[in-house]
This record gives sequence, C-alpha cells and structure tokens, in this order.
Amino acid sequence: MLDQTIKEIRSEIDALLPTITTNDQLEQFRITYLSRSGRIASLYESLKSVPKEQKPQFGQLINAIKQETESRFESVKTTLQSSTTRQASDVDLTLPGRMLPKGTRHPITRTMEEMKNIFVSMGFGIVYGPEIEDEYHNFEALNFAKNHPARDMQDTFFVKEDVVLRTHTTPVQIRVMKNRPLPLRVIMPGRVYRNEAVSARSNYFFHQVDGLYVDTNVSFADLKGTLVTFAKNFYGNDIKYRFRPSYFPFTEPSLEMDITCFLCKGKGCRICKHTGWLEVLGAGMVHPNVLRNCGHDPEKYSGYAFGMGVDRISLLRYGIDDIRIFFENDVRFLNQF
Ligand code: DAH
Repeated sequence: MLDQTIKEIRSEIDALLPTITTNDQLEQFRITYLSRSGRIASLYESLKSVPKEQKPQFGQLINAIKQETESRFESVKTTLQSSTTRQASDVDLTLPGRMLPKGTRHPITRTMEEMKNIFVSMGFGIVYGPEIEDEYHNFEALNFAKNHPARDMQDTFFVKEDVVLRTHTTPVQIRVMKNRPLPLRVIMPGRVYRNEAVSARSNYFFHQVDGLYVDTNVSFADLKGTLVTFAKNFYGNDIKYRFRPSYFPFTEPSLEMDITCFLCKGKGCRICKHTGWLEVLGAGMVHPNVLRNCGHDPEKYSGYAFGMGVDRISLLRYGIDDIRIFFENDVRFLNQF
C-alpha cells in the first residue's frame, strides 16, 4: 500500500517539475510536496502503521524520495533565478542601435513637392482628381472640338466608350470650378497617360501640375506675375524667361513660357537643342466657354490657368539621360536621392 503511494507521488513529481516556469508555480509545488503538511510529510505519518520489521526499508524509501525531491526543487529554483537575472543583464543599453535601411524620396516626388511648396506659399490650395476620367471632363468641357486630334486613339487610352485615362491634369479644373465656390486658387498635381511609344525621352504616363485662379478682375498681368515668381523660386533668381503666344482650346489668349537652359546657362547645348531655351509650361486666360461650361458668367468672372510637366524637368535637374529609369524601381538608382 505505502509502496504504491510512494510510486504515485514520485510519478506526479516527475510529471510536474519540468512544467514549472514561474516562482509562484514552484512555491505551490513546495507547499504540496515539501511542506510540513505536504505529501512527503504525510508518508512519514503512514510509516507508523507499517509492521515493525518493514519500517527500516520503507523509512529508507521515504528518506530517498524526500532528499531527491528537495534537491530537484533547489535546482529548479536556481534555474528560475538565474534565467530572470540573465534576461535583465542581457540588455546592454550602451550598445548602438541597429541601422535599418532608410528609404529615399523619388526624384519625381521631390520635384512635385518643391513645386507644390512654392505654390502653397503663394496662397494656392491643392486638389486631386481621378486618373480615370470621362471624355466630358477630359475634352468636351475644356472646349476641345469634337474632331480635335488630341481625342484621337493615337494619343488617348480609352477605358471604354466615353471613358479615358486622363491625358492631362486640366480636367480637374472643370471639377473644382463646378464643385467649389469662387474665388478659387488651386493647383492640381497628378499622373497622366498618353498612348505614346516608350523611349529615353517619352513614356506612356507622366506627371503634371495644373494651376487655376478664378475671381473677378483676374488679369493677364496676374498670370505673368505668378509664373515669373514661380520660375524664379523654382529655377533660380538669375534665370531669364520669355513668353511666346500659343494655342490651347481651354485658354484664350494662350502662351508658352521658356526659361534659359539651366544646363548651359543659355549658351546652347544638346539638351536645349542649341537654342539656349527650355520650354517649361503652357498657360493662358480661362476660355469664356470653359467658364460657361462650369456655370460661371464670363462677363463677371475671369481666370488664368497654367500647366507644367514634372518628369522632363526632373530628368534635366538630376542629370538623368533616360526617363524609363524613373519607373524601374532599381534601388541602386533610387538610393542616390
Ligand atoms: N493641359 C496642357 C497639356 O497637357 C497643359 C496646359 C496648358 C494646362 C495651358 C493649362 C493651361 O492649364 O492653361 O499640354
């Protein structure tokens, strides 16, 4: 009988000890087996009822299990203590941190952000529009004639009939003029798409920033002042500029702005095709038809608008000779910025 109880206690202890991971569990173990009223102490009680001649034999067995359990208890105790102390001392607060690889901003993003910052400092808000656009906003409301060549399949990606990937950021002008109260002074940055052959100089998607100011008495002089202020901030105070008459369906009159080539400083080089000038943007006074299409009276309101490309400018500023490299996501390229 006693023999059986000793065996049971031993196998309980064998099963329990390896599962102990906290001081609380260990204390619980001590109370159950090793305390004065614990299971091992009760074995000594039972010894009293064992026949006299068997007492020494059972006494030895009980002593053995007691000693063994005590020493195993001690060793678990030291392991628990040392593991907690080791954890604390493992942390060397003086070690320098591990450097994680740092991302960089894409050159197109950087150019865009610089443009945005300049216009925001001049009081323009920022508005974004959809890249999938309907023909109405992309062409019709902007006063493009029904048979205008820009609507041609050659230039425009059609998603389905009447739905295109926007070919410029100018349709956002229609959206803001229809949805926001006048006066308005906003820029509209974003990605645009054109069905063009990919080469070192051109891609089938690129980026533009459009601008729009509509109020009473907005003049051509206001437009020129804004463009010159932007160009001096963005390209440098010492650049020279010129305006050329141009044509866009949505502005009248229209102009294009050139600045002195910032690579050769106007002397003439391969980049500016030996003219000394770089064309940087198109602009003009908002066409009365466009104002009317958006529900505004052109007798009462006038406005100016402009639009510039971002990719070619980034190419020139960072001395990159192939536009395709912008979108290959090669970290060896991107890490340089
Ligand atoms: N949308 C024109 C383009 O993609 C650029 C442009 C010219 C935008 C004149 C304008 C503008 O807002 O007034 O070539």
